Amino acid sequence: MFSVDVRSRLDSDVKQIELEAWIENQLPLLLEQNSAIAFEGAELLGCRPLGIRVSEKSFTLIPSNGHIKMNKGLDNAAVVVDMDEISFSDLVQDIQTPQSLATAKVIDLPLRDHFRFLKWWPVIRAIIDGRPVHKPGDIDFVEQDGSPLDLNRSFTLEDSNKDISWFLSQTGFLHLEGWWSQDLMHEIYTDIDNSIKKYQRGDGRSWWAKTKDGKDHCVRLQYFQEHSETVKKLLNDGKHKRIASLPGDGHTLEWNGSNQQNVIEALVKPIGIVEGISDLPWHKDCSLGRHSYDCSSITVGISVTGADDKSGQLAVVAGSHRANLQPNFIHPYLDLPVVALPTKTGDVTVHLSCTLHMSHPPIERERRVMYTSFSLPNKSEKVGVDRISKVREEAYMKVSQAPAK
Ligand SMILES: [Fe+2]
Repeated sequence: MFSVDVRSRLDSDVKQIELEAWIENQLPLLLEQNSAIAFEGAELLGCRPLGIRVSEKSFTLIPSNGHIKMNKGLDNAAVVVDMDEISFSDLVQDIQTPQSLATAKVIDLPLRDHFRFLKWWPVIRAIIDGRPVHKPGDIDFVEQDGSPLDLNRSFTLEDSNKDISWFLSQTGFLHLEGWWSQDLMHEIYTDIDNSIKKYQRGDGRSWWAKTKDGKDHCVRLQYFQEHSETVKKLLNDGKHKRIASLPGDGHTLEWNGSNQQNVIEALVKPIGIVEGISDLPWHKDCSLGRHSYDCSSITVGISVTGADDKSGQLAVVAGSHRANLQPNFIHPYLDLPVVALPTKTGDVTVHLSCTLHMSHPPIERERRVMYTSFSLPNKSEKVGVDRISKVREEAYMKVSQAPAK
């Protein structure tokens, strides 16, 4: 089997960063080691000098002559980011990201500066982690025998775990055809109909969005296993668990069988959302933080109805899980292929937490899908997870998606 475990940090090693010592001692050391590779990324992305001010301390990172140099103070900074010590400590240790701090309004920059800061994120990771920023030509896609890989390939229950696992490790996604029966999906469709009235805006168990006619729609039904015995059986079915076993990393559902865990979410994607979020634009699921502690988890999308280019299909950037890049955009320099994943009822899509993906807003037909995830084994308490999930759960109230074209 082919591993997708790229974790490089342990929760047990997380500590509150000593601000002064980190800026005075640690950062110069990191720059000595990694500033040449970080500069390559800064140049590709067009990063301009970044000033960071935490409490009374400030410094500026300046790409210059093949290196990133650090100046005390904020002279020459093209953008200045103010943050508190906890957020800075989170940022250094890859617990939160510029995107999660911005979504939570912990930092509140004008839009142009916000994008300038986001550009720096892969460069900051290169400085701290020594992981180069993705360059065009870095990633190719091959079969196990070295021949070119067909990115549009899908798999069925008859295919071997080894072949499916290889494709997942190369591309970061899967299309599994006919994994579940049409009858089973129809039962679940009815369970969604019957449960939707049990959800209310603000109940902490659902996301809502408004359409042009002013109607409020429940678009994300969380803790959905509570409302469907069929879904409970599906979660315990060997076919579902087979997906978790593919990389051989010990991924599990982390479910104790209760209704108190948000183990599966049913999504109803209406046409014409004008307020709130139903369809997420390009992102990695780790774009809110904890990449180096959790990646890659496996997210499974079960097509209760089919999806195509008219009904809100998923799209992924192949190989993006192997690349240090901006986790919320497709930068114009990015050479990795975008692959659309149309599905039929009963098909399954799989993407890794580190794979760039987005869902197109439906324009002709509503779509229904369920999402659930498998995590890598981790026995310690997950640091900062409360801060990140608060950001995620409040996003639908703070952000509205762009209207469908
Ligand atoms: Fe996602």
